[in-house]
Amino acid sequence: MKVKVPFLDLSATTREVSAAVCESWNAILAGSRFIGGPVVEQFEAAWSSYCGTSEAVGVANGTDAIQLTLRAMGIGAGDEVVLPANTFVATAEAVVLAGATPRFADVDPDTLLLCADTLRPALTSRTKAVIVVHLYGQMADMDALADVTGHHGVALIEDAAQAQGATWAGRRAGSAGHAGCFSFYPGKNLGAFGDAGAVVTSDACLAARVRSLRDHGRVAGSHYEHDAVGTNSRLDAIQAAVLIAKLTRLDEWNDARRRIAARYRAAFGSGVLQMVAEAPAARGVYHVAVARIRDRDRVQRIFTAIGIETAIHYPTPCHLIAPYRRYADAPLPVAEHAAGEVLSLPMYPQMSTEQVERVCAAAEVVNDILLAKEASRHG
Ligand SMILES: Cc1ncc(COP(=O)(O)O)c(C=O)c1O
Repeated sequence: MKVKVPFLDLSATTREVSAAVCESWNAILAGSRFIGGPVVEQFEAAWSSYCGTSEAVGVANGTDAIQLTLRAMGIGAGDEVVLPANTFVATAEAVVLAGATPRFADVDPDTLLLCADTLRPALTSRTKAVIVVHLYGQMADMDALADVTGHHGVALIEDAAQAQGATWAGRRAGSAGHAGCFSFYPGKNLGAFGDAGAVVTSDACLAARVRSLRDHGRVAGSHYEHDAVGTNSRLDAIQAAVLIAKLTRLDEWNDARRRIAARYRAAFGSGVLQMVAEAPAARGVYHVAVARIRDRDRVQRIFTAIGIETAIHYPTPCHLIAPYRRYADAPLPVAEHAAGEVLSLPMYPQMSTEQVERVCAAAEVVNDILLAKEASRHG
């Protein structure tokens, strides 16, 4: 029997950096500076330079990156924050944790990302910020969105948790809005060996506020002076060391992901399975390779039977998840429809050609089965 094609093989990525990580970890153990310190600062400098911003602030995870950015902007009770319904729940969770009210917007039917047309109807006089989510690794149309938020006078925050290294018209994710929020959860394109996150921005005052909030609201340079109710959301040195080692490989890994996605796109052609569209100005980094298909649940069962692991991002749009239903005031048809069609295919940089071709062959099988079903229905 042929071996399974896993959805993700994190150990293949880990193996590529383990020697470099062990070396850094030995140095950290010798110095025993585990929280903050030079290794965290080195990562922050490398990450801001990579993203094209002047500042990066390491935090404990991606949810905190969003929550602390909102709080640092003074956004809280009584304020509304618009976000797309097609996202991971953490985007909405961070808004609620900051004390603000999430307002869900629908998404573009081709890219499944927030766009100017779906953003406009969600804006009100209480809107203080818009969080655009670069879902699946593809940046949304930042020019059109910035036009709308600029006109409305509200902040544009990027949830770039899935888009490390992606670009829109040559600008890197995180640098195209007022602030960019990253998760370095292990399975992300740039992932730690545990939880980690960062906020990037070219607004030094905003960065200083996030820096204080992540560290109990400490006044810079003091130990027992606090000017805000902060939290503990600091980045560990041992995670920063992993991120430094992996950052040297990120572009190469993203290129490999793009090659796999291009092969899927070419192999599927005009068949029943279709990859989510990539906008011409976007250079996606395929955190996940999402295809769409009408009979999704059946197709997923066929893939499973053939030995190909798949996943669904996401089975329920955010505004229909129980704790968030209270914030939903209208149907969002594109996001709701897409949730029944999306299917994420195996995707990680070290996938072999044979594995990629097995996914393509499975797509052909799916094509034949569904077309035969269609023909029998009409004949
Ligand atoms: C789009 C998006 N936003 C936010 C987050 C939250 O990140 P974390 O799990 O690091 O808190 C994630 C993580 O999966 C995500 O995919």
